[in-house]
Amino acid sequence: MSKDNFTSKIGIVAATAGSAVGLGNLWGFSYKAGTNGGGSFVLFYLFSAIFIGMPVLLAEFIIGREGRKGPVGSVEEITGKKSPFVIAGYLGVLSTFLILSFYSVIAGWSIDYLLNSLTHGFSQYATMDTAAHFGEVSNQLGTQIFFQCLFVLATIAIVIFGIQRGIEKISKIMMPLLFGIIVILVIYSLTLPGLGEAVSFLFKPSPLPEGATYFSTFSSALGQAFFSLSVGMGAVVTYAKAVDDKEDLNSITLQVVFFDTLIALAAGLAIFPIIFSYGMTPDQGAGLAFISLPIAFAEMPFGYIIGNLFFFLLVIAALTSAISMLENSLSVILDKFNIERKVATIGLGALVMLFACLSQTGLNFSCPLLNFTGGTAFMDQLDYLTSLYFIPIGALIFALIVGYRMDTEVVKKQINNEKISKIYIPYVRYVVPILIAIIIVTGIL
Ligand code: PHE
Repeated sequence: MSKDNFTSKIGIVAATAGSAVGLGNLWGFSYKAGTNGGGSFVLFYLFSAIFIGMPVLLAEFIIGREGRKGPVGSVEEITGKKSPFVIAGYLGVLSTFLILSFYSVIAGWSIDYLLNSLTHGFSQYATMDTAAHFGEVSNQLGTQIFFQCLFVLATIAIVIFGIQRGIEKISKIMMPLLFGIIVILVIYSLTLPGLGEAVSFLFKPSPLPEGATYFSTFSSALGQAFFSLSVGMGAVVTYAKAVDDKEDLNSITLQVVFFDTLIALAAGLAIFPIIFSYGMTPDQGAGLAFISLPIAFAEMPFGYIIGNLFFFLLVIAALTSAISMLENSLSVILDKFNIERKVATIGLGALVMLFACLSQTGLNFSCPLLNFTGGTAFMDQLDYLTSLYFIPIGALIFALIVGYRMDTEVVKKQINNEKISKIYIPYVRYVVPILIAIIIVTGIL
């Protein structure tokens, strides 16, 4: 067993929830709910997170604690080196590498907005065309590469210390901070006149937007749920390898899903009242946080404080997710080669920085080989490639491994609860794979 294990259950929950809660909750969830018609998307999202995401999350915890390695090593340990299941491990470490590359670009924008609004306030946005401004900001190649590298450097600086002294320590500081900020933002939004409209937008089942079907909405909600819970990529396997045998995986899984879902909903409750109160529409897509909100921050009372807290929140949430992605991709190097952690972390981090340059929209680059994903900018292509293909396939394989390849006694030992085993094992065997498979196929069609 590796010595660098988590020291406490709070540490495990903080780190795993830190991985889960990220730009996907604060930015992705609200803009996707916005463009997918609101309430219906949210319902599908909740269903996906609880009935499909949660069992896969537990499956990854089981695989990681049994295999005691990253996703590649653990799956090899369990199914044998030559087994086709190992592909899930490789897809996973590749996914977190690719996601981290464009994630760090978005985190870089957040740092840029934060520094700019801290020093110049938000009134600058009141009279400006913020969409054009966002276009300009994201096109300043030099500046954006600088901020993106700064973000990756911060990620390296944490991961280099390993689980106990790096990841666990920082998560135990950042997660309460993040939670506190969210609470302040929600309380503020509860006082706004747009609250009623926001609540019915988020929670009332809505007619779907034109061109969408229930299947397409379900499939994007499931993709969002997997991404948001950090499942399907082995990131949870990588943390699970450092979880002591005495810890209860069931309650850890439940708490992580609870926090992640709570914070996605809370982010919606913080953002949409602002959007509705200031006469904006919720369906503007990815620019919601960078184009619409700054205008509102300029106009609203206490906008300076609320706006800066919001961008600070984006940065720290992105950081606790990024450390998990880097740690996951790193695991395959540490498991397979005899390289020192320090050297491997810096090397891989540098590679991320280089590769991320391709995602800077200023390069206006897209890869013809990835046209099938439907994305036009490179970062969208990577997003679609991972969320439509790699992640659901990975999640399916992790469920199959626990359902069919692991010895039932071993699964029971990991779950360590008679009642839960009785429901979970048949569920992960027969129900979860079918649901995921249906959604992969219809998603592709
Ligand atoms: N779950 C994170 C988010 O919601 C993203 C993430 C994916 C983190 C994969 C770690 C691994 O933003």
